[in-house]
Amino acid sequence: MTQKIGIIYSSVDGQTKKICEKLCAHFNDQKIEVELYSIETFNEDILEFHTLIIGASIRYGKHHKKVYEFIQKNIIILNQITTAFFSVNLVARKEDKNSANTNPYLIKFLNTIDWKPDILEVFAGKLDYKSYPLIDRLMIKLIMKLTGGPTKSVQPIEYTNWKKVDDFGLRIQKSLETK
Ligand SMILES: Cc1cc2nc3c(=O)[nH]c(=O)nc-3n(C[C@H](O)[C@H](O)[C@H](O)COP(=O)(O)O)c2cc1C
Repeated sequence: MTQKIGIIYSSVDGQTKKICEKLCAHFNDQKIEVELYSIETFNEDILEFHTLIIGASIRYGKHHKKVYEFIQKNIIILNQITTAFFSVNLVARKEDKNSANTNPYLIKFLNTIDWKPDILEVFAGKLDYKSYPLIDRLMIKLIMKLTGGPTKSVQPIEYTNWKKVDDFGLRIQKSLETK
């Protein structure tokens, strides 16, 4: 069986894509074949991959609707290979909300779909007030205020823990040895 890994991202402002690129670099370093796709353009035969990773960011409490559609459309095949899913959001900057068992978005997401990914993870995303249109900026400020985060910052704040991303890559790598 092929040992190829596929990574699909759903990313609005690029942070989830950046995490996927870091994973790609990790697999390239290990000489593991890997392909990266946007969920918008993915049109491959899923069975070509030993492991498929899907990474998606949260906006106003939800992953993009394309993520749900993709899973629904491919649920039978997804259950035939090794799969991994990770969510990227700002709530995950908090220690007590940054794991698969404690992040409310991931828990809710898994409860609304029939797919049971083999490997799960949550990463904190990026906060960049200056790049948001006014309404979004006000909404994020409100969310941050309610959750005790910074309500202003001229510089972007990247909460992503890159060591955690590498560890996730290692977990995926180990799964190649199992099935
Ligand atoms: C309009 C908007 C809405 C967001 N809503 C949420 C939210 O409800 N909860 C949360 O934890 N993070 C929220 N975020 C933070 C994003 O999940 C975070 O910025 C992430 O890094 C975005 O990833 P992406 O660049 O791959 O889209 C929001 C960000 C934006 C810009």
